[in-house]
Amino acid sequence: GALRQRPTPWWHAPAQREALLQLAQAGTPRYAYHLPTVRERARQLKAIEAVDRRYYAIKANSHPAILRALAEEGFGLECVSLGELERAFAALPDIDPQRVLFTPSFAPIGEYEAALARGVTVTVDNVELLRRWPEVFRGRALWLRIDLGHGDGHHEKVNTGGKEAKFGLSAQRVEEFAQAARALDVRITGLHAHLGSGIETIGHWQEVVDELAGFARRIGSVEVLDIGGGLPIPYSDDDEPFDLDAWAAGLAAIKAVHPAFKLAIEPGRFLVAEAGVLLARATQVVEKDGVLRVGLDAGMNALIRPALYDAWHDIHNLSRLDDGDVRDFDVVGPICESSDVFGHRVKLPAATEPDDAMLIADAGAYGFSMSSAYNLRTLPAEDVLPDAD
Ligand code: LLP
Repeated sequence: GALRQRPTPWWHAPAQREALLQLAQAGTPRYAYHLPTVRERARQLKAIEAVDRRYYAIKANSHPAILRALAEEGFGLECVSLGELERAFAALPDIDPQRVLFTPSFAPIGEYEAALARGVTVTVDNVELLRRWPEVFRGRALWLRIDLGHGDGHHEKVNTGGKEAKFGLSAQRVEEFAQAARALDVRITGLHAHLGSGIETIGHWQEVVDELAGFARRIGSVEVLDIGGGLPIPYSDDDEPFDLDAWAAGLAAIKAVHPAFKLAIEPGRFLVAEAGVLLARATQVVEKDGVLRVGLDAGMNALIRPALYDAWHDIHNLSRLDDGDVRDFDVVGPICESSDVFGHRVKLPAATEPDDAMLIADAGAYGFSMSSAYNLRTLPAEDVLPDAD
């Protein structure tokens, strides 16, 4: 199809650029978040009528200001660890626990107990939990995560479906689970599937609704079908933008076939990726064997996506944004690993030099939340820009 142009990023606005340059002066590496962009994405999803409930997967970015902004926009929160649950309730002490999901994978049983004690909606994904800890789950209403046997996503490392994936109850064992649940007076009130991240196949979620509805009908007590997150964002000009209208139309069509169930989604990336940038400072510019490199004071410890998934992030020289004379640079970090490369042959101003403020775009999702202190480098700082354009 024809490539539609990506919208101009928020940080192109002169006031935002100035604010980012000032933040970069205060020390790098640091993430900066733009809440109006988060709210805009939230409103795009709120406009989709086929979806009854929206949760934000806080693993993408659990900054309290982002959690509060999304709660204000009507989103519940999806958490996968006790740490995330504690973050959610610390940021939003008055949130209705029913609007918080706990969807762990192979977590210690104590985390399930703590989540149940808080009254949040707990999702389990195997029958062994019920067999080994019957008293933890007896009499509860639970959601069940099913592995529908197929997955998708921008990289094999984010595909969460199929035999080799650790997530979800095998579709072959749903009846067995339902029996074990009945024996414990456990009501299965929701079915859940999240089969990957950065999924471009528009029909994927439609298929998931259809398949989950089939199981739900056999189980009987199910009210909600949670079809996960996984919405992609365009990281580069070559990426086809996701057709949200077609996605919504597909959901509306399949919902008409299964009107008995409420539809829930739990996106992470879509809501926050474009709202965040990583600011860094150029350290050294070095040519070796014909390859020109610019080093940044941010490395794979600050943003691991390129090293881990070969992910692309646009990189700009914020100090020389309007410079037309460009050259190819490999953009690298200060970490002692060959994978510490943000991009090969990236077009940057030829005048790029040490101390320039550099910007890595679309880093609001899985940026800070996956950062580490590897090489004993300090974690990046985080700032929220003023909540007005
Ligand atoms: N629900 C569940 C159960 C999940 O495991 C995830 C993400 C989501 C929702 C949200 O998915 P999203 O809408 O963000 O695609 N670190 C990788 C992505 C891993 C996603 C893990 N689970 C990356 O940077 O691409």
